[in-house]
Amino acid sequence: MKIGCLKEIKKHEYRVGLTPSDVKSYVNRGHPVTMQKHAGEAAGFSDDEYIRAGADIVDDRKRIFDQSEMIIKVKEPLPEEYPLFHEGQILFTYLHLAADRTLTEALLKAGIIGIAYETIEENEGRLPCLQPMSEIAGRLAVQEGAKYLEKTFGGRGVLLGGVPGVERGKVGIIGGGVVGTNACKIATGIGAEVTVLDIDARRLAYLDDIFGSRITALYSTDANIEKVLRECDLIIGAVLLPGAKAPTLVKRDQLHLMKPGAVIVDVAVDQGGCVETIKPTTHDNPVYVIDGVVHYGVANMPGAVALTSTKALTSATLPYGLMIASLGVEEACRRSNPIKRGVNLYKGKCVYENVAKAFNMPYTLIDDLF
Ligand SMILES: NC(=O)c1ccc[n+]([C@@H]2O[C@H](COP(=O)([O-])OP(=O)(O)OC[C@H]3O[C@@H](n4cnc5c(N)ncnc54)[C@H](O)[C@@H]3O)[C@@H](O)[C@H]2O)c1
Repeated sequence: MKIGCLKEIKKHEYRVGLTPSDVKSYVNRGHPVTMQKHAGEAAGFSDDEYIRAGADIVDDRKRIFDQSEMIIKVKEPLPEEYPLFHEGQILFTYLHLAADRTLTEALLKAGIIGIAYETIEENEGRLPCLQPMSEIAGRLAVQEGAKYLEKTFGGRGVLLGGVPGVERGKVGIIGGGVVGTNACKIATGIGAEVTVLDIDARRLAYLDDIFGSRITALYSTDANIEKVLRECDLIIGAVLLPGAKAPTLVKRDQLHLMKPGAVIVDVAVDQGGCVETIKPTTHDNPVYVIDGVVHYGVANMPGAVALTSTKALTSATLPYGLMIASLGVEEACRRSNPIKRGVNLYKGKCVYENVAKAFNMPYTLIDDLF
């Protein structure tokens, strides 16, 4: 199968869909790879490295669309890319279709096969191509929070690890899933005092087993949320209700409970956020202040560490991409339920129920198609 990998054109997206090592894996299995010129440069991979791995380098995006059977990307296509697709072409990338009717309609019209990283789901419900990004965002949340607690960035001037003779900083993490657990690792690692809140008793027990007395694991009740707001220097929002908007757990009229210069990093901002006053921000203007509290609301946090993110993302997507390239979509779906769940669009038909529901569109069961 002929593979094409494009340079991302979305603002501040520095990741790339294939590393040179991934290219080698495709080429060694007989799948020729064309990379767009400079596609990996922002993530730290030069064209020379791709050439050494066996890729062709082409500057013309249209030519890559014209010659490739499978296009591998990171983010969803932008409007200028819609007309470049060919019927039956495979698009393997993050799609997030349920959030974008225009994109869904354009890709249905183009007749492509859209396989979304975010809906590839293992049998036990794990989302292997989303998990690495949550791991990164969780770890980054503490790093960013620590930075914005510095006085020059508008924070209250607290060092999270403290020093001998001076108390440690306090971190409150709301939501103890993948993001929350990874935030916990870094926050305890730098010596902060950490409290994690979750509604899931099994999750709290797991965190207690892993971190022991280095954290306090509490039920996420209104009273405990108020407690962490009053006490903590840094609050990290990390809740998720699958497929729904994040619940609003911190209200605007509770901000006055927090210390002046305290910081909120609401990682859940991509699902609407769990703090009423959070709004999506970008890497070039990540924070704003309301009622003396610094708010950080970057919706694509992993983009800040493009090299790590690219390696983590492509390690997760590679096995599925190779299977699709070697077997074709239809046979790959027959043999792999995770890949079958990843298919959202198939040659003009919406085959992912939640996307069809979101736009009241006809839904076709993929098993009825092949
Ligand atoms: N901003 C970014 O760049 C970025 C990157 C990756 C992930 N995210 C987002 O981070 C959020 C968390 O992702 P995740 O992978 O950790 O999800 P997850 O499902 O692993 O964890 C979510 C946790 O929230 C808990 N929860 C649900 N309701 C709660 C409540 N009322 N109080 C406390 N806890 C509650 C759940 O029990 C679960 O343990 C998601 O919205 C995800 O989209 C954002």
